[in-house]
Amino acid sequence: MAGDFPVTPARPNSDSPLLRLVDRRCASALVFFVLDSLLPEAAHAEAPLNYLFTHGSRAQSIAGLAWFTTAVSILVILIVTGLMLVGIWRARSRFVAELPGEAPVERPHGGVSWIYIGVGITTIVLLVTMVWTFVTLASTGNPPPGPAAVRLEITGHQWWWEVRYLNDEPSQQFQTANEIHIPVGKVVEITLRTADVIHSFWVPALAGKTDQIPGQENHTWIDAKRPGIYRGQCGEYCGQQHAHMAFEVVASAPDDFERWRTQQLQPARSNIAAGAGQDLFITHCGICHTVRGTAAAGILGPDLTHVMSRRMIAAATLPNNPGSLGAWIADPQHIKPGNYMPRLDLSGPQLALVLQYVKSLK
Ligand code: CUA
Repeated sequence: MAGDFPVTPARPNSDSPLLRLVDRRCASALVFFVLDSLLPEAAHAEAPLNYLFTHGSRAQSIAGLAWFTTAVSILVILIVTGLMLVGIWRARSRFVAELPGEAPVERPHGGVSWIYIGVGITTIVLLVTMVWTFVTLASTGNPPPGPAAVRLEITGHQWWWEVRYLNDEPSQQFQTANEIHIPVGKVVEITLRTADVIHSFWVPALAGKTDQIPGQENHTWIDAKRPGIYRGQCGEYCGQQHAHMAFEVVASAPDDFERWRTQQLQPARSNIAAGAGQDLFITHCGICHTVRGTAAAGILGPDLTHVMSRRMIAAATLPNNPGSLGAWIADPQHIKPGNYMPRLDLSGPQLALVLQYVKSLK
């Protein structure tokens, strides 16, 4: 039944609507990519995981290498595409003019020199990339000179981040989750662990990825050159909710950081009288969550002592407002299927009481 199908023309017809569409799409994609690369920093504010515009010393050395490899890749694509188009154009015009009909197979002289030139250029570019990579690895993997202003221990869990602020004085230590506050311009040392599988700590604007490996302790250092909220993301596939294992780094002036730290050190300051809401929370949620100053002392889930001071909930998946908080407590499996927080099957009035109590944890 081959005769039922349209016969493909032997030579692509440049007037074909399909080819024109493909040409237009390729051209517009290329133009978009080039323009996007040239856009000023502010235009990239909506790309929270952008690693090409950075605000931390360790990310800056990586960004230089990333820009270089991106530029080289674009240049290679342009050169190869240009040479291919010139070759096609020259062959077409020659065969059409001199040899109408079928083009003969020929082996022109001097073609091998192109291979030498190509391999030579490739080797130089790869060597430069390799040396630059080694230099970048050395600069990002070694501790900075001098002691760190803040020391953190961050443990990856499926699928959230436990953040412990370390201090030689035990009374000055405290724990939070999924939101890391740091003082601007200061070096923060982070010890990385995992409670289960391999995760990877990554704040693209501040530093490259460092893995969290079971049974092992890794170290990284971050610093922010200017105040801001920098998004972080688990960089290693770790199960069903890997994509929803995010966090935020809030960099603020040292005074503001100190105020935040002092507030976090306090036990829970619920502004509602201890009663049904707190009792329900302790019996239903306290097995997994801690609220310092109450009988809720679970360690399986995030510490909720000052949960309302955080911008996001569920590992930076939802904004922290009464609506998403209520939806999360009512049915966490609907929002992050497979996560380890069970559905509690609270009645409507019970849910309202628990929500009222959680909302009081400033
Ligand atoms: Cu943790 Cu991916």
